[in-house]
Amino acid sequence: MTPEPRLRIAMQKSGRLSDDTQALLKRCGLKLNVSDRRLLAHVANMPIDIMRVRSSDIPGLVMDGVCDLGIVGDNTLEEAALERALMAQKSQYIRTTGLNFGGCRLSIAMPEGFDYQGIDSLNGLRFATTYPQLLNRFAKANGINIEFCLLKGSVEVAPRVGLADGICDLVSTGATLEANGLVEVEEIFRSKASLIQTVTALPAEKQAILDTLLPRIQGVMKAKE
Ligand code: PRP
Ligand code: MG
Repeated sequence: MTPEPRLRIAMQKSGRLSDDTQALLKRCGLKLNVSDRRLLAHVANMPIDIMRVRSSDIPGLVMDGVCDLGIVGDNTLEEAALERALMAQKSQYIRTTGLNFGGCRLSIAMPEGFDYQGIDSLNGLRFATTYPQLLNRFAKANGINIEFCLLKGSVEVAPRVGLADGICDLVSTGATLEANGLVEVEEIFRSKASLIQTVTALPAEKQAILDTLLPRIQGVMKAKE
């Protein structure tokens, strides 16, 4: 007997979106037993599995059809799409619905006291970032040349240790910038979480699960407004 198909949803294992994502799924009625080490969590009361991964892996997992759905920040999604475009790979996904959490902006920030006179002041400088593609697009669109230094986290430390002149990272409350003596000078991208879906049509059984889940997600979002 073939096993019953299960809808597979990718979500961030730990970080900015993980608590809100987990709360959303629970409010949709999914009985989830998420423990730190369990990376593929079985939903007890619906044919759904939750795959818990690094956020930067979610776009690829959905685009390649490994996961049917993913909950991911628009910033991560756009960065992945630009990266794929660079390698002449298609980045196909459906943005099923926007979600009303995970709001933040991707901004360039400079050390306090930096004489910022507009975007040209950034020309020739070096920036630490987790989002080189988004930053590169911004630099090109504004006709400036900049250098990158890739950091996957704790980006705000880079100027103080001489690794970079400035940074380009996510800002939510602004507390991390302030604690590290940095001032936001340019917002380059606004982001929220989104539910994305693979472009390949889902088999009927999986589509039926999604048809049950989606109105619940939208209901939870509405209740939060
Ligand atoms: C995120 C982000 C910023 C910070 C922004 O980092 O990279 O550093 O949060 O939030 P704030 O404006 O409210 O301070 P996170 O704490 O997830 O750690 P990481 O960068 O080391 O992964
Ligand atoms: Mg950070």
